[in-house]
Order: sequence, then structure tokens, then C-alpha cells
Amino acid sequence: MDSRRQVLRLRVLQEMDITGKVLLLRVDHNVVKKGKINDPYRIDATLGTLYAIAEKGGRPILMTHIGRPKDKKTGKIRCDEGDSVIPIARYIEKKLRIKILVPSFPVDPDAGIVTLDNTLGDEIKAVTTGQAGMIYLPNTRWFQGEQSKGPDRDKFTRWLASLADVFVNDAFGSWQPDVSTYDIAKQLPSCAGILLQKEIENLHAVLEPQRPFVGIIAGAKYDTKLEPLKVLYEKADHLILGGLIYNTFIAAKTGLEIAGVSPEDKALAKELVVMDAKAKKILQMPYLVESEMPGEKATGKFRTVKIDDFIEGKKVNYLLDVDPKSLEQEVVKETILSAKTIFVNAVMGLMPSFFEGSQALYRLIASNRSAMKLFGGGDTLQELKNLCPGIYMSGLDDPNTYYFTGGGSVLTAIEQGSPYGLKPVQALMQ
Ligand code: 3PG
Ligand code: MG
Repeated sequence: MDSRRQVLRLRVLQEMDITGKVLLLRVDHNVVKKGKINDPYRIDATLGTLYAIAEKGGRPILMTHIGRPKDKKTGKIRCDEGDSVIPIARYIEKKLRIKILVPSFPVDPDAGIVTLDNTLGDEIKAVTTGQAGMIYLPNTRWFQGEQSKGPDRDKFTRWLASLADVFVNDAFGSWQPDVSTYDIAKQLPSCAGILLQKEIENLHAVLEPQRPFVGIIAGAKYDTKLEPLKVLYEKADHLILGGLIYNTFIAAKTGLEIAGVSPEDKALAKELVVMDAKAKKILQMPYLVESEMPGEKATGKFRTVKIDDFIEGKKVNYLLDVDPKSLEQEVVKETILSAKTIFVNAVMGLMPSFFEGSQALYRLIASNRSAMKLFGGGDTLQELKNLCPGIYMSGLDDPNTYYFTGGGSVLTAIEQGSPYGLKPVQALMQ
């Protein structure tokens, strides 16, 4: 089915009658670490939805997850103050000059929030009478039912549904089907917020790209990125790889043993090597930075090496960055500068010490002024902002640049070949 036709079937906030109604608004404001906001971009990106709700006279109850407070092995949930939504509520209060109520709940030391007899009567009254602007629920993952199976899950779903008239999902980054992103959408009239719509529109630019299309993927996790990488390989005209992903590819291609590359990942990468033997889409990064140590940059312990000089059968040390010289090659410059679409989910080197490769890459991409440039992934945006603040800032206003708020969501959508395969999005379709 044509995916653009499917867009019409997504229920959207603009069409909903929300005047005077209480709305549950799921956002992805997962930006707090140890009680501090790292980068407010994900919060700012949802302000359009908050304005739209205010303009239509809706009364919002916001909710987000923060971190991963549930221990996978024991199933215990730790409600740590460092994972609280309070800094986010204070940030929005300051930004919008409104009052936000954050209700508190009894917490079980092992199971999180279990008791749900609070119907939030006082808080809801305050927002409907204008004494407060909005309500912000505690971290959704503090609620025992959010990611569990069975009766706790149903109980949490029913309780959430009892609070509001409408559910709005604006949490693009939260693609996991949890109660607050998925189950709840089946219990209330539900729709996509403004940000979620924008993210989906921009996913089309990656999934149905203007050509030439260059994909740039780097990062530390090979196994989780392999499937989307294979799909992207088919889609792209050229690919640039970096980080452990590139090291793994080289190890598989050359048979060399490279420090930090696991034999399992190396075996998985063979498939990509076979694919590339024919199509030759992966651009060579011939100059890399080799280090004797896995972490910091110690004087005399790191150097630029050339792939062609690697001797077969010999062990290669840690490869911790792409040398900027690799990006100065004519073929690489030409490929990036003539691209019409560039998708970047890439931090090339081991941060913070080995930053030169990423910086050179981001600068080169920025020098292509006409391509549609799409950046995805929290780490990518963070480093773009740190290493090239001017480029990051001008990208915010540039119609040809888009910053996705969720890297995992973009890769999942690429893997599925459509934004409509994401479960929380599916739940909002007619
Ligand atoms: C993220 O920051 O990657 C998203 O908020 C999703 O978080 P999760 O991977 O813990 O579900
Ligand atoms: Mg993430």
C-alpha cells in the first residue's frame, strides 16, 4: 500500500474536539539524568502541541518515561529522585509561565507505584478551573503496570483511562508498546500530536528519499543496528560507516582481528560484506585512529593508521576514530556534496577524546546546502551540538535540516520500511 495514503488514516490532534476536555498527553521527555536536564530539545519540540491544546481549550495531563528504572532480571522498580519528572515540570513552568501540578503517589520500595486509588480529583479541578495550567504525572516507568504483563497492566490502563477524555500521543522516541504509549490508545479516543505528525512526515524523506541518498551510520552497538543497516543498504546510493560498526565491517572484510570487535559481530557482518562486494556502496575510510588503550587519549599511545598497511593475520589495536583525512578524499567529498538526501545517525569516534572524525564529518555535511539533511539519535544530536554549535543552531531554523527526537524509532521505522509499523503509531490509525 502507498504509505502516503496511510498518512490520511492517522487520527490527528487538529481534527479532535477537545474543548474543555481532559487530555492525556504522552510525550518523550526522557532527557533527565541524575535530576538534571541534559538537553531540552525533546521538551521544546513538543511545545507546538502544548500551544495547540491550549488554543483549543484542552486540559492536559502530561506523562513521560525517564530512564530504565526497572531491573530486567529482578523486575524490581526503583523510584529514584534522579529519574523524577520534577525538573521537566519546572522547565516548562518557566518557559510557558504557567503552573504545573505533579501529584505524588505512595511508592512500594520494590514494586514502584502500585496503589492507584487517587483519582486526581483536586488536580483535575485545578486545571479545569484555570488555577493550574497542566498536570504532569510521575515517571510512567515508576508505575508497576507500565511495562508488565497481566493484571497490573490492565489495572494501570484502566486507571489512566479513567483520568481523561482523550489520549494524544506525541512521544515519537518511545516506540515500545507500553501502557502509556499503546494500551491506553485503545481505551480512549486517541490521536497523534503535532510533533509525532512532523516526525512521520520527515521519516518519509528517509524512506522515499530524493537521490542520490547517502546514509551515515556509526555507533557502539552492532547487533541492534545490523537489521536497519541492511535495509538502509538497499535503500541508499552510498553508505558511510563509523565507530564499532565500521570496525566490525573491516574485520569481516579483511579477516583481521581488531580489538573490541567481538567474533559474533564479525560473523554477523559477513552478510554486509557479501552484499557490498557486488554493489560497492560503502565508502572506504582509509585513515583511522588506532589506540593502544580502549578509552582515553594517552600521549604516544595513539596514531593515524592506513587500512592498506594492516598486515593480514596480525592483530589490530583499538580503532577509535576516523581520521579527518579520510573525509578529505575527493570521492567522499564529492559523494556528500552531490547528495540530495543525507541521513545521519553517527558519532564516528569514541567520545569525548576522539572527536575529530565526527567534527570533520558534520562540517562536510553542513557544506552541502541544498540536500535534505536528517539527523537522528540522541547521541548524534548531542555531539553535533557540542562539536559544531553554530551548525547545530542554524540547522534548527533551516527548512532543509531535520532533527528527529528518537534515534531508535527512526532505525525501527527504517527496518520496517514504514512509520506505520511502529506499534504506538498503529494504535492511532483509523
Ligand atoms: C530514548 O531516549 O531512547 C527513548 O526515550 C526510548 O527510551 P527506551 O529505549 O528506554 O525505551
Ligand atoms: Mg536512546
